[in-house]
Amino acid sequence: MSNALPKTLPWQALEAHHEAVCDLHMRELFRQDPQRFQRFSLQFEDILLDYSKNRITAETRDLLVELARAALVPQWRDRMFAGERINTTEDRAVLHVALRNRGDRPMWVDGEDVMPRVRRVLSHMGDFVARVRSGQWTGHTGRPIQHVVNIGIGGSDLGPLMVCEALKPYAHERLQMHFVSNVDATHLTRTLAQVDPETVLFVIASKTFTTQETLTNAHSARRWFLEQGGSEAAIARHFVAVSTHREAVAAFGIDPANMFEFWDWVGGRYSLWSAIGLSIALSLGMAHFEALLDGAHAMDEHFRAAPLEENMPVILALLGVWYVNFFGARSHAILPYDQYLHRFPAYFQQGDMESNGKSVDRQGRRVSWHTGPAIWGEPGTNGQHAFYQLIHQGTQLIPCDFLAPCLSHHPLGEHHAILLSNFFAQTEALMRGKTLEECREEMLAAGMSEAQVQALAPHRVFEGNRPTNSILFKRLTPRTLGSLIALYEHKIFVQGVIWNVNSFDQWGVELGKQLARTVLRELRDPDPVAGHDASTNGLINYYKRLARE
Ligand code: F6P
Repeated sequence: MSNALPKTLPWQALEAHHEAVCDLHMRELFRQDPQRFQRFSLQFEDILLDYSKNRITAETRDLLVELARAALVPQWRDRMFAGERINTTEDRAVLHVALRNRGDRPMWVDGEDVMPRVRRVLSHMGDFVARVRSGQWTGHTGRPIQHVVNIGIGGSDLGPLMVCEALKPYAHERLQMHFVSNVDATHLTRTLAQVDPETVLFVIASKTFTTQETLTNAHSARRWFLEQGGSEAAIARHFVAVSTHREAVAAFGIDPANMFEFWDWVGGRYSLWSAIGLSIALSLGMAHFEALLDGAHAMDEHFRAAPLEENMPVILALLGVWYVNFFGARSHAILPYDQYLHRFPAYFQQGDMESNGKSVDRQGRRVSWHTGPAIWGEPGTNGQHAFYQLIHQGTQLIPCDFLAPCLSHHPLGEHHAILLSNFFAQTEALMRGKTLEECREEMLAAGMSEAQVQALAPHRVFEGNRPTNSILFKRLTPRTLGSLIALYEHKIFVQGVIWNVNSFDQWGVELGKQLARTVLRELRDPDPVAGHDASTNGLINYYKRLARE
């Protein structure tokens, strides 16, 4: 796709089509077509995607699929699976799919089948995980491990944390999981207060092993361990590392035998499938970790093989493009109706925003179309009592994904039926809305005067026509979660292809990191600074004054 994306025929066809359909109300579309649910829903294993509550017609879908074809989505997908260096700005392949390639198929990077390496690391993880979980691996005083502290940030934190939370029903009873990411000492200090130096295992998770926050936390944890009676020799029993950087791990003092490796063709935000998933495997056991991989692999196969119009990630991606580029949506909410998925939106905040938050195309030219929306969300029903007001009646269009299991891990009275009644009711309300006439009738029937009705009815009107995707699955198992994560990963990939951006670099986080290094040196010096803009000088000098008091 060229830099002139809006000038391409499929784009122009979509623009013209948008003009024609943008005022159609979904209520009307449902009234006209009793088959709308069947027409606009897809099933993959036990995962149902109902996308009928979107502002689309069959023609919209056809035109969007045409756009995907013109953007060469199938070809880009095949190039990714073939291990081509599609992350051009870092000159890397993008092959997280190899980590969950569960068949016999080889996966190639630079003429090498990487599968033997992938399997070797899985088996290394498997041995270690079995020893820790069985109690055979002990701390330096001979007691079994009870606390696992994953120290990492971004993709080296959010993935393991999200999955460990989501799959808690499968967690090992003895092992308590902790995640320290923030360089704010509060995070580490409060975590260390909960663990015992004799039974703690620190997993230092960092692809580069140079990330300031992670290294600072890891060094402080090491110091704490030594202060609590641990010896240098005992470090090997209490610190392991997950990284691509063998030398940096050795320099930190971790026994290379306790390093679990992965490779530069695994992006940080796509790394939970790699050894970065060690904390997941420790908590859930290797069989469940592998079930997670199986689920993702099954979704990969669907993504590779299903025709575009029946391809779940492709459809989700195209709907997102439809709203961002033709309706002007600037954000997208992910709303899991499952408490266990409470970090799922945060996980895909990184997954999506770090991938597609770009303003130059693959060729380095400024794009003239919008790319990734802001991703946000919280579990339902909490969100309903917090921010749904804006989704229902605010001035912005915010497409939402609703996700829920049909069966709860904790059947308790009517809780699950109540939870899901809210899911269904919200998506219906967002679609249908409530007209002025309906409001009036309701208020008059409730005995209100005409004057009251006139004054209050406009506040009670819901425009409706607010789009939602509904994703229902049987139960939140490791396999299903694996499929759901892969579903969103591929959605993000397809959108990146259509927007013609490189979804696999993240240069935008570098400038702040660079400046922070300079500022840190200045903070060590008591004298006021003068070398920045007036605001930054003012803030630094204010901090210096107060921090000294
Ligand atoms: O700063 C952004 C980032 O590079 C993310 O992409 C990554 O997930 C995170 O930092 C952590 O990086 P690392 O695993 O190398 O410590």
